[in-house]
This record gives sequence, C-alpha cells and structure tokens, in this order.
Amino acid sequence: MTPGSRPRVVLTAKLPEAVEQHAASLFDVVLNPTDTPFTAAQLIASAQSADALVPTVTDKITADVLGAAGRRIRIVANFGVGYNNIDLAAARTNGVVITNTPDVLTDETADTAIALLLMAARRLGEGERLVRAGRWTGWRPTQLLGTKVTGKTLGIIGLGRIGRAVAKRAHDGFGMRVIYFDPPVPIGEAKAHGAEPCGSIEDVLRESDFVSLHAPATPETRHLINARTLALMPRHAILINTARGDVIDEAALVDALRDGTIAGAGLDVYEREPTVHLDLLTLENVVLLPHLGSASTETRVAMGERAIANLEAFFAGTAPRDRVA
Ligand code: DGY
Repeated sequence: MTPGSRPRVVLTAKLPEAVEQHAASLFDVVLNPTDTPFTAAQLIASAQSADALVPTVTDKITADVLGAAGRRIRIVANFGVGYNNIDLAAARTNGVVITNTPDVLTDETADTAIALLLMAARRLGEGERLVRAGRWTGWRPTQLLGTKVTGKTLGIIGLGRIGRAVAKRAHDGFGMRVIYFDPPVPIGEAKAHGAEPCGSIEDVLRESDFVSLHAPATPETRHLINARTLALMPRHAILINTARGDVIDEAALVDALRDGTIAGAGLDVYEREPTVHLDLLTLENVVLLPHLGSASTETRVAMGERAIANLEAFFAGTAPRDRVA
C-alpha cells in the first residue's frame, strides 16, 4: 500500500449488496459478481495482489496462499465463524492476521439445529415429498408417525455460543432435559442455559433421545461420531449436525441409519461439501440441508459488516475484535 492509497480487498464470493457497497466505500474492492468459487491459483494470485482477503468456508486458505511468493496479503477476514478452512499455523508463520464473524449467526444456526431436530423427529421432509409427488391420498391415523420432542432429552456436544442457544430453545421452548459435554464450560454458566453437565461424550450419547453437535472441526473432533460412538446411542435416537461435516464419519452414519443403529439424522453440513454421500440421498430417515445454518438476510449482512469492522480496525492500526490468529 502506498501512502494515501486505499487497502485492496478481495471478496471471494458474492456478498449481500449492502455489504459489497459498504466495503467499496472504504476499500479498493475486487468483487466476484459471478459467484464462481475461486480456484487455488486465484486465491494465490489474490494473496499476491491484495492487502486483504474476505474468503468463505469454501475457500481453502492454505500455506501456499498465505506464504505465496511476493505476497501482499496482511489480513484474512473470514466470512464465517468457523475457520477450519484456514491454515492458522501458516498464518502465524507468515504474520498474516486472521479474523472470523462470531455472535451474529448464533440465533440462526441454533434455529436451524432445532428445525432439523423437528424435521427429523416428525418426518416433515418425508411428508413434504409425499405431497409434492402427488402421492398423498388423505389423512390416516397411522400415517408418517414420528416421535414426540417435548419433554425428551437433548444431548449437546460443545456448549459454546451456538450450543447454548440450542440448549435454551430446547429447554425453554420444548421442556426438554438438556445434557452436555464440554469440560471447559463452568457448570453455573451452563445451568443458566438449562443444561446439565455429563462426564463424557459417551454418557451424552447413551442418555440422549436427540444429540446435537456444536464442536468445531479440529484434528481432535474429526470423526468423533463414528461406528463405535453411534453404537452407544439408543436405537430411537436422532443425530443433528449444524457444526462441520468431518465431525461425523459419513460412511458410518449411512450404515447406522440403514441398519437401525439410530433412528434418524438431520444434517446441514457434510464431509466433502458440496458432495453429499450418495447413499444419504437414498435414505428417508435423514433430513439434508445445503449448509444454510446462517442463511438469513439479516445475518449474512451482519456477518459481512463484522468482517468489514475487522478490516477497518486492522487498517486503522488497532486490534480487530475477532482476531483468532
Ligand atoms: C460459519 O459461519 O461457520 C458457517 O458455517 C459458514 O462458514
């Protein structure tokens, strides 16, 4: 950046118009009007030609990007709370600041988890498919019987912001008993959200009618839900995932849904997005959404504004509020 010039910022995806306009009023912005995902080569070229990058979950910000020859990049303001798409170690090595967008998507993602829970429990996707296919022949007392939600036990793995918001909705809204596993969370704080601690993930899985995953994607949480842990769940249990796809071994989940190890699942995220395990597509007892946990206009605008605020702080020489590396 030469003195007096505006920082050059690349937005890798199409963002809400208000966000793009606000960004363009502050920075020398490069937009992606076609919304075609960037290739690895485009990400590297952006790191060489711009001061900042605003990527999304679909962009892999690797060591090759962060350490690109002749790189100009100084900050990556991720558009999203999860940042497993970014190599944090490479960011530290290369002195590139990383920020995310927490808080503003908590309610939407918690709503999506509850929506998936209700859809899977009450077989709402199956019902909608029946009507749309013109196969509904009228009300029947035994048609599409699901399972009751009110008063059941919900197990939460990971009681961060989103896990707590799900706990509150389930406890206050559906009278559910909420149990959780997340050792760093102080018990008093969890109780305020209506959640009781469990000694282990295994205990949560054994005791819950529904399990909702809210753990970040890390090497430790990869395939946390696998053939062994699925087998601990009651046969009537339903698994919900709005966190990250690789927390579940998808092939093991397919087997468990097919052979009745668990009753159902509701997924918003997948191991190899946008590819969905082909066998999941054939199963009726799983609800499948296209990673839209935070997809409300209000929240996507708020996420963009949060990324802009992080960039503004950085270029003003102050600490960005949401710095993660
Ligand atoms: C998030 O914010 O982490 C969403 O999953 C989109 O990346």
